[in-house]
Order: sequence, then structure tokens, then C-alpha cells
Amino acid sequence: MVCLVNFIILILLILALKNVDVNDTTISATERITKAAWDACSKYYNSAAGFDRSGDVYSKIKDLFGDAPFLGGELKNGTNLFNAAGAIEQNNAVPNLMFSWATVDYKNVSQNALYISQPTLPMPLDFYIKPQFYDQLKKRVAGIAEMMTAFAQAVNKTVDPGDITKAATGVVDFEVQIAMASWSDDLLRNYIQQYNPYNLDGLNSAYGGIDWNQYLAQLFNGVADKNAYQNYNFVISQPPYFSWLSSIITGNLVDPNVIANYIIVNLLFDDGDFIGSSEMSRIIREYDYVPHVLRAGRGSRRVGRRYNRMLDNDGPEVFCFDIIMAYMPYGPGYVYVKSREDARNTVSTNVQQQTDLIIESFLEMQSTLTWMDDQSKQAAITKSQNLVKNYGWPSWFGSFTSDPADFKAVDDYNKEYAAIIQVYNKGPIQHFYDIMLFMKRAFEVQEAMKLLTMPADRSFFLLSPALVNAWYQPERNSITFPYAAWNPPYYSYDYPQAYNYAGQGGTGGHELTHGYDDEISFYRENLVINSFKAYNLVQMEHYWIVIRRSNVVGWMIRQTTMLTNPHAPASCRTNQVMQDIPAFGQDFNCRRGDAMFPNGSDRCKVWVGY
Ligand SMILES: *[C@@H]1O[C@H](CO)[C@@H](O)[C@H](O)[C@H]1NC(C)=O
Ligand SMILES: *[C@@H]1O[C@H](CO)[C@@H](O)[C@H](O)[C@H]1NC(C)=O
Ligand SMILES: *[C@@H]1O[C@H](CO)[C@@H](O)[C@H](O)[C@H]1NC(C)=O
Ligand SMILES: *[C@@H]1O[C@H](CO)[C@@H](O)[C@H](O)[C@H]1NC(C)=O
Ligand SMILES: *[C@@H]1O[C@H](CO)[C@@H](O)[C@H](O)[C@H]1NC(C)=O
Repeated sequence: MVCLVNFIILILLILALKNVDVNDTTISATERITKAAWDACSKYYNSAAGFDRSGDVYSKIKDLFGDAPFLGGELKNGTNLFNAAGAIEQNNAVPNLMFSWATVDYKNVSQNALYISQPTLPMPLDFYIKPQFYDQLKKRVAGIAEMMTAFAQAVNKTVDPGDITKAATGVVDFEVQIAMASWSDDLLRNYIQQYNPYNLDGLNSAYGGIDWNQYLAQLFNGVADKNAYQNYNFVISQPPYFSWLSSIITGNLVDPNVIANYIIVNLLFDDGDFIGSSEMSRIIREYDYVPHVLRAGRGSRRVGRRYNRMLDNDGPEVFCFDIIMAYMPYGPGYVYVKSREDARNTVSTNVQQQTDLIIESFLEMQSTLTWMDDQSKQAAITKSQNLVKNYGWPSWFGSFTSDPADFKAVDDYNKEYAAIIQVYNKGPIQHFYDIMLFMKRAFEVQEAMKLLTMPADRSFFLLSPALVNAWYQPERNSITFPYAAWNPPYYSYDYPQAYNYAGQGGTGGHELTHGYDDEISFYRENLVINSFKAYNLVQMEHYWIVIRRSNVVGWMIRQTTMLTNPHAPASCRTNQVMQDIPAFGQDFNCRRGDAMFPNGSDRCKVWVGY
């Protein structure tokens, strides 16, 4: 389920933060860090004064590469692109040649693994590959050229427009090659092919062109030392992509200057909003750039994957909320849940009871299905019995009292972010870029990598308890309802129960079905469904059905939603499910044969078998 940020949560969060004093060490560091990040972000976006940090970014580029090739500079001798890629992924939370993430090892849920994937490009893969999207490619070249020019201006370099266009075209050509070497979204739904485990030696022999030692040394910097990580379980998710990447390096098939430009451009688009250049901010907005952290989602199944900026017009508050929630999920999560002291426990208990009933009904419906064989039905029951249900907030949030022992766990969890307070006190506006860097690095250390050094935890929330959303994590077989989701219009303790079942209950049912869709069903309890049958099951949720009804949904939905969202458009998600449930037609007095009450023989019986 993806929905717009709930303004109510934002307002409650602002109110809760109002009285937090960043210097008051009697309250939790988590609240103070959140306040500092929030306050700095909103002050920065509301201030007219620019504090141009382009020079610092340029110094970093020079450290890693010698110079930026698109500025006419030369790569330094011995530039290691994998060292640079790892450093930028770790310090700026901008993966570029690949993307690493730790989560539960789905072949052995008692341990964690590091999943190494192809990168998520800033546009859908089809835009790079299919001829009908040529205009999108041209627009991308123009955007990159403008970004390169803006950066050149910011660092006082004179560049030739022809050279810039050539460099920008080179970057886009390279992205096209990445797109062609990547697996498309439908292949990414197959997790069996994506489980290819190695240790460090194994990676080096399988993909020798990639300098794993340099890349991983950067990623594990501050997380674990080589003696520890060399035998971790590294799972290569898309072997053909990594074979391609290895071969272009071994065979020297792509100019290293082009690869360096590609990495630097990624960095500029992701950080450009924080370095005080209004021109770079304009380009980011005009070209609809989505920060990587919001684009790719999290976990081995990418939650909330998206390619469009959603919130630009809602002002700096929403933008700040969005990025702090993404980079520091348990900061605003703690502050928000703590502020809801009156209702917290009652609401949580109520939703738990409701969810148990939903799961029971789901299995009852499933037992009537004729297209699912008995073995599959039994597996579905076992799987739902093993489901981990996360309600509201993680237990380690404690009891929200002022006793330091009570908030020690949440402060320990967030300690990578603690430096934000000192930077904030040096000047929130001038140092907002530094605050962002601390936040991005802490995010990579704490949220992307550190899990690998800890025992596997199937009850890990993954995203913020202050997010208005809910999600299913396949490798953990867990369903998570953050506290913020239990708000109008989805839920209110005072609403009639029927209404709450339709809102929060429907959300629960939706997330539950992800556990049985074609992408996920092999996890843990392998559902034995023949493919055709699996297709039937998922048609409500997945976009392929819409392709067959494209005359209804039109070009826009096809181009944007369908290429980027795993869910069907809203009309399909409601009407097609309801018409498959005969009780709906009966209760609402539809006539037999009506669209919402089809004759049994006309129905594609997915949810109810009679
Ligand atoms: C917090 O302490 C710093 C000095 O460490 C000081 O400069 C700043 O004004 C204080 N902030 C507040 C809100 O009192
Ligand atoms: C560019 O020039 C401006 C104006 O002379 C100066 O303030 C700024 O520091 C220079 N930036 C860099 C990165 O050299
Ligand atoms: C890089 O090395 C080559 C020869 O190995 C040398 O000619 C060149 O001057 C070096 N460039 C730099 C920037 O050190
Ligand atoms: C699963 O992981 C645990 C913890 O690392 C380990 O002790 C156990 O041997 C593993 N099981 C298998 C079947 O590999
Ligand atoms: C549905 O069945 C009813 C009677 O059972 C019949 O009169 C009607 O024509 C059927 N409708 C369609 C669309 O087949």
C-alpha cells in the first residue's frame, strides 16, 4: 500500500518536536537528534541565504577521482572506480554501479546476508530500452548537461557546451548499457534465480573484473573488519548484470572517464539539493529526480519503489519530513509514537484482534478455492501460522517514560546519528549539508550494513513507525503495521468496526496476499501452484491485467504507474476484487449478471471458489 504522507502525522510530529530542547540531556538523544535534523532542514529550506558547499563536494570528487572528467580534468593515475563507488554509496547513500543491503538470509532465517544487486536507475528500465521512450532519453541528456554546467559554474570552471553535451550523452549511453544488462521488474520477481551466495574469495573468482576488496572495504568502513566480513554470506542477486560489469572492466570496454562522470552525476543529483546552489535545486526539481533512498525502497523486496517526485509542491515541511523519515526511520517514529500516549495501547490491541480475524477469514476463503491444490492450501496455512506480525512500534522503544534506562535501547540504536546534534549547534543552516551527510552515512551504516553483524531478527520493522503505510517482508515472512497507519481515513478507535475492517482491515488483507503472490510464494513454505494458477492469484494485485484493459486506463497510467508500481490501478484493486465475492452482490442488491455480481460461469474465481 502506498499513499500520500498524512498531513496529520506531520503536524503531530511538529507539535511533539516543538518542546524538545536539543541541549536537554535528560531526554532521549533520539528526540533531540530528530529535532535537530528537522529544525535544520526546515530552516535551510525557508532561508534565502545560500551557503554554497559546491567547493567541498568538488574536493571530495578530487580526492576520489583526481578530477571530474566532464570539467575537462583528468582522472588521477590509479583511480579505483570501485573504491569510489563504495565510498559514495557508504558516505552519501548513493549506490551507483551496484547496491548492497543486509537483511535476513531467506534460505536460512537464523542468519543475515548481504544482498548485492544491480543499481536502480533514475528512470524505469523501459525508458532506456524501448524506442517509444526516446524523448525521455533526450530529456535525461539535457538534464545531465544542465547539472554538469551548473556544477561547473558553482566551482568557477569554464566549460565548452559541446564537450558537456558529449559528456552527458556518454553518461546516458552508459545508463542504457546498465539497463540492457539489468533484469527487468518481472524477472526481479523471481527470487530463486536471485539467490547466488559467495564469500569474498568466491566473489573475486566469479567476478574478477570487480574490485570487491576495495568496494567492500568502503562499505564495511566503521561496520566490520575484513577478518569478520570476508566469510559473510554475499548474495549476488542478478548474475548476468555482474558478469557484464566485470567484463566491461576486464576488457576495458567502457571509457573510465564515462564511468566516473556517471558516478559523479549520480552524486550531484542526490546531494545537489543540500549544497546551496539554487540552480542545482531547480534542475533536480525540473527533471523530477527522486533521491535514491526514496526511489529504491528497502529490503530484498523493494518497498515503495517509485520514480516520480511526489511532494515538491507541498513545501519544505513535507520534503523534510519525507527525507528524515527515510534516512532516520526510528527518529520520527519514536517521537510520534511517544506523543500518542493516550491511545497507544488500546489501539494496538484493537488492531491485533482485528488482524487475527482477517487472517482467519483469509484462510477460510482460501479453503473454498478450486484452482489451488490441497498441498498448496496446507502450505498457505503453515505460512500464515508462521507469520510474524509487527504492530505499531518495535518493542525496544520501551515504555516512553523519562527514565534513561527506558530510552537506552532506542538511543543505542540511533547512536550513529548522534553527531547531528553537535553539527546543528555549529549553525543549522550553514551546516545543513553536513547534517545531511551524517544522516546519510548513519543510514547506510545502521540501516543498510550493520544488520549483518547482528543476529537475524524476523521482527525488524524496516521502515518508520511514523509512516502511513503497511508492508509485507517476504524474507522475514512478516507483516508490519506502523502506528501512523492507524489514523483516519483508514482507522479510528471510535469508528464503527465495519468501517475499520474496510480501512485498516483491508490494508491487512492486502499485505497478507503479498505473501502468496507469484513473487513471494516460494518463500519459506513453497506454495506449489502451477504458473497459470499463480497468475490467477496475482491478477488483482499486479499490473499485467491492466495492459489488457489499456483502453480504459489510458496512456498516462501505462507510462507512469504501470511501469513503476507493482500494484494495479485503484479501480481494478476495488471493483475486480468485489465482483469476485458473491456476498458483495447479494448484500448490495445487485442483479445477477450485473458487472459487480457476475454469473458464476462468467467469473474468474480468484478469491472465492463458489
Ligand atoms: C545549545 O548549546 C549550544 C552550545 O553547546 C548553544 O550554542 C546553543 O545556543 C544551545 N541551544 C539551545 C536551543 O539552547
Ligand atoms: C567561485 O567564485 C566565487 C566568487 O569569486 C567564490 O566566492 C567561490 O568561493 C568560488 N568557488 C570555488 C569552489 O572556487
Ligand atoms: C599518469 O601516468 C602516466 C604514465 O604512467 C604519466 O605519463 C602521467 O603524467 C601521469 N599523470 C599524472 C596526473 O600523474
Ligand atoms: C543457519 O544459520 C545458523 C546461524 O548462522 C547456523 O548455525 C546454521 O548452521 C545454519 N543452518 C544451515 C542449514 O546452514
Ligand atoms: C446470468 O444468469 C441469469 C439467470 O441465471 C440469466 O438470466 C442471465 O442472462 C445471465 N447473465 C449473463 C450476463 O450471462
